[in-house]
Amino acid sequence: MNILLLGAPGCGKGTQSEYISKKYEVTHISTGDMLRELCMEGTHEAAKIKRSIDCGELVSDDIVIDLVKKRLRLIDSKSGLLLDGFPRTLNQVESLPDLGIEIDHVIELHVPDEVIVKRVGGRRVHPSSGRTYHIQHKPPINIGLDDITDEPLILREDDTEHTVKLRLTEYHQQTAPIATYYKSQADEDRGNYFQLDGTQTVDMVSDQISKVLEVTHK
Ligand code: AP5
Ligand code: MG
Repeated sequence: MNILLLGAPGCGKGTQSEYISKKYEVTHISTGDMLRELCMEGTHEAAKIKRSIDCGELVSDDIVIDLVKKRLRLIDSKSGLLLDGFPRTLNQVESLPDLGIEIDHVIELHVPDEVIVKRVGGRRVHPSSGRTYHIQHKPPINIGLDDITDEPLILREDDTEHTVKLRLTEYHQQTAPIATYYKSQADEDRGNYFQLDGTQTVDMVSDQISKVLEVTHK
């Protein structure tokens, strides 16, 4: 089972990915996490990628598609993939057959922009694992520390209000058309597309996801 989680920055893709990948034993592929990992390398290319991310721009399709291709070689994708943040342009959608990925379920988490702008300022992240917290909605056990490793949590550099607004503009221009594309495919009975309300609590969103995945698997 291959699942694509779609939605604006901060809609809860990473948070729900932790839940879905454990429950359904699918491999989580987050191009955002992979790109941030790449940024730690001290290369010229890494510095360029970091600049794009920090400015709220998308990284070029070639770089992202190549990164996914390399990751797929390293993992066992037989039990299924959970795609978080990829594809997010129409070119990336077109690369899927070459990558050997067929998507079974598209789940879009819908959260209005104004909720996202407020929400993202409270996010805290454990950089090496990508585990995500929120100071109000999903606090860690000990303030400022990761629950598993006790290492410090950070605020992502692209989580300033200004950059979040730029990321939302990129989302509406480049990624929202993908949701429209998958929805039209589903309307023609060629796939499963679900838009869920991402403004509910984390647990309520997880329940909605389970419901749609279980119904379509009966
Ligand atoms: P990426 O890391 O994918 O960022 P994003 O899409 O902007 O999404 P986020 O990770 O910010 O949010 P999320 O939906 O995962 O929300 P989360 O669960 O953390 O990409 C970063 C950058 O990399 C991009 O801007 C681009 O430059 C580049 N990039 C990545 N992929 C690319 C691609 N394919 N092509 C080109 N460039 C690419 O939740 C957010 C917060 O809300 C957390 O604090 C969480 O605890 C909280 N929360 C979650 N759910 C709820 C809820 N239901 N109620 C209340 N709070 C909640
Ligand atoms: Mg994320």
